[in-house]
Amino acid sequence: MDKILCDCSIMVVDDTTANLDLLDDILSKKYEKIRLFTDGNFAFKSALSDPPDIILLDVMMPQIDGYELGLKIKANRVLSDIPIIFISAKSETLDKVKAFQSGGVDYITKPFHIPEVMARVETHLRLGKYRAELEEKNNKLKETLKSLKEAQSQLIQAKTLSSLGTLTAGIAHEINNPVNAINSSGIALGKIIRKFLALIEIYDKLRTENTDSILEEAAIFKEEISYSEITEGVEQLLRNIDVASNRTIEIVRSLKTFTHMGRNEKEAIDIHENIESTLILLNQRIKDRIRVTKHFGNIPKVKCFPGKINQVFVNILANAVDALENKINIGEPAEIEIKTSLAADQEKPSVNIEFSDSGAGVPEDIKEKIFDPFFTTKDVGQGTGLGLSISYGIIKSHGGNISIGTNRVGGAVFILNLPIE
Ligand SMILES: Nc1ncnc2c1ncn2[C@@H]1O[C@H](COP(=O)(O)OP(=O)(O)OP(=O)(O)O)[C@@H](O)[C@H]1O
Ligand SMILES: [Mg+2]
Repeated sequence: MDKILCDCSIMVVDDTTANLDLLDDILSKKYEKIRLFTDGNFAFKSALSDPPDIILLDVMMPQIDGYELGLKIKANRVLSDIPIIFISAKSETLDKVKAFQSGGVDYITKPFHIPEVMARVETHLRLGKYRAELEEKNNKLKETLKSLKEAQSQLIQAKTLSSLGTLTAGIAHEINNPVNAINSSGIALGKIIRKFLALIEIYDKLRTENTDSILEEAAIFKEEISYSEITEGVEQLLRNIDVASNRTIEIVRSLKTFTHMGRNEKEAIDIHENIESTLILLNQRIKDRIRVTKHFGNIPKVKCFPGKINQVFVNILANAVDALENKINIGEPAEIEIKTSLAADQEKPSVNIEFSDSGAGVPEDIKEKIFDPFFTTKDVGQGTGLGLSISYGIIKSHGGNISIGTNRVGGAVFILNLPIE
């Protein structure tokens, strides 16, 4: 028998000293720590101050009988897990149901059959050890699970922030262009307006001075400032300002759909509007490099957490752009196709949103893994491998599904299925 079991402490409670002595003789051959009690109340106090690993308990005792003491032990938070083996004489009728109800795990009968006593004690000590070990492992598992969950939510938050960071960098760039255009057009318009004012000043003199000489002066000035050209220029500058300010308004409007990022309420949204917004925000990486075609079907609004769904669109579109970098570098056509439609074959009414790209596709042997957290084929610092696992979680939490396929040019197709609700 192993050392750990020999080290176990055993408490024996029996009002007959002859029985105590006999059990002491039997048990002390293997166990070192044996405590003997003739009185149940003393035994209880001793157990409280130093809980034993097992208790052998006589049923018939004068002060407090075995059943009662058993119940008292089971009701105590410190002692409740200690296994109790009841001892009863062959002549007594042991109420087995009552014994088990009083916390007994087993019973032995007098006169004692030594190997049986040893076997039963050892079995329950072993079971007790296993139980304690299991409990300890279980607690450790619970702790590990808790810290895993914490780490997961921190990572998801970090990834959300980093997607936002990517977007913000792009948006800053995007807004910079129209704002610069507005600014330089404004400056140019200012210069022209000042020239017009100078011309008006010349005409102003008409009221007091000689008409012909003033008209002559005005004509020379008009020549100097290339009057007809700058009049045309004004039109062009005003058009520039119009285009640029509309673009800025568009970007700001797209940003609004993303300000829902953390909202905790579901909203019925127009999926197409959200895809458009995402494309505008990713435009920095798309424009002039990738051809995006949209085949938007006639779909109803979808009830969802808009910020979360936008995050999925960003992750999938950003992956598509990444997958196209090689094609762009070697001058091959880089295309993204986005399709939406009502799903026909689902039990619940739902929509399909399909993102297809002309990249190299997802190799067969990694298809299984791409939704795993931290799985990435990108270089260190290029990808965290969280985009798809977070997207998968988001879509699943909406009762939807993500599947992956291959299109006719070998590129990847990601199909989101979202219930309409
Ligand atoms: N459109 C795609 N074409 C080809 N492979 C893809 C495509 N989308 C995803 N993958 C593969 O799936 C992997 C996991 O994608 P996921 O978005 O989870 O992480 P990531 O893009 O590598 O990193 P990040 O956390 O920055 O998104 C990618 O590294 C890539 O190998
Ligand atoms: Mg990604």
